[in-house]
Amino acid sequence: MNDTIASLYQQFLSELQNATTEQVLEQVRVAFLGRSGHLTELMKQLKELSVEEKRVVGPQLNQLKIDLETAYQKRQQELFAAQVARIHEENKYFDVTAYKKEELPARTHIYTKILQELEDIFISMGYEIGDGPEIEHDYYNFEGLNIPMNHPARDMHDTFWLNVPGMLMRTQTSNVQVHSMEKKQPPMAIFAPGRVYRNEALDASHEWMFTQTEGIFIDKNVSLSHLLATLQTFLRQLFQKEDLKIRVRPGYFPFVEPGLEVDISCPFCSKGCSTCKKTGWIELLGGGLIHPNVLRKSGIDPEIYSGFAFGMGVERLAMIRHGIDDIRLFHSSNLSFLDQF
Ligand code: FA5
Repeated sequence: MNDTIASLYQQFLSELQNATTEQVLEQVRVAFLGRSGHLTELMKQLKELSVEEKRVVGPQLNQLKIDLETAYQKRQQELFAAQVARIHEENKYFDVTAYKKEELPARTHIYTKILQELEDIFISMGYEIGDGPEIEHDYYNFEGLNIPMNHPARDMHDTFWLNVPGMLMRTQTSNVQVHSMEKKQPPMAIFAPGRVYRNEALDASHEWMFTQTEGIFIDKNVSLSHLLATLQTFLRQLFQKEDLKIRVRPGYFPFVEPGLEVDISCPFCSKGCSTCKKTGWIELLGGGLIHPNVLRKSGIDPEIYSGFAFGMGVERLAMIRHGIDDIRLFHSSNLSFLDQF
């Protein structure tokens, strides 16, 4: 039996050495280690041996099994390493430019362009550019904005919660309101663009990650007329249209009182077109006067100061401006789309 075991092992080693592809290696494994392979055949012969012989041969066969499996794994790793080395060698001189003959000029993404334009307009009105974390604590995204736990307004934001208790991906740039008020005392004028995340069903006007900008202005005696004048000035400049009008409707956001939805007169037509869905108006943003609770929570006395805030979707603004009909194009890396801008 000793000789049989030794010769089976040697035969296995030599066949492994001759196996240079995965398929052949697998055939060798099945022939030796498979259910009806050579090893199983040897094991079957055990029952014909005496008890004393079994005591000797049993452990030898077990050891043989271990040796065969170890040799097989070693060869498998060798073949894998050889394959990786071959692929590296083949791709060593891969030319990433080989598939595009003409040169691709670099340019600023349409989304960055419009952000820069918005920032320029607000900087020209005396605003500073603000920023806030995208990974946020519940307090700054909801609680500090007058949206306590179990408030129904939380349902309007399909939140990506993180595994860390109380942490989330911010659903709105309004978190910058709370951070700014905690850090500074009025007067303050802040314009804060940034990414926000919502666990939304996706369609032509809804993305799960999109960009908002928050406008915040706090001082003594700030009223709605300041908000409306600011928005009108900004939108006229953005659309380069002096007679652009804004229309205000009541809107509900727990962190402003009163809350407003602002529409603009359609910049593309006078009687109604497909962009404004024949209404002559386009819905653009939400805003209002900052709720006294929000000011108070962040350490600003609402008896002395008041302020306004507004928030808008940047991709939707760019869609209106450039007649883009699907928001998903922004992050699609679709060159024929990007080439237009
Ligand atoms: C807000 O997020 C409020 N924070 C805005 C605000 C700020 C109100 C300050 C008052 C004061 P709303 O959920 O409506 O509001 O979103 C604001 C804008 O983000 C929308 O008008 C829209 O332009 C854009 N938006 C909302 N959801 C999506 C989405 N899934 N994909 C792309 N844009 C979206």
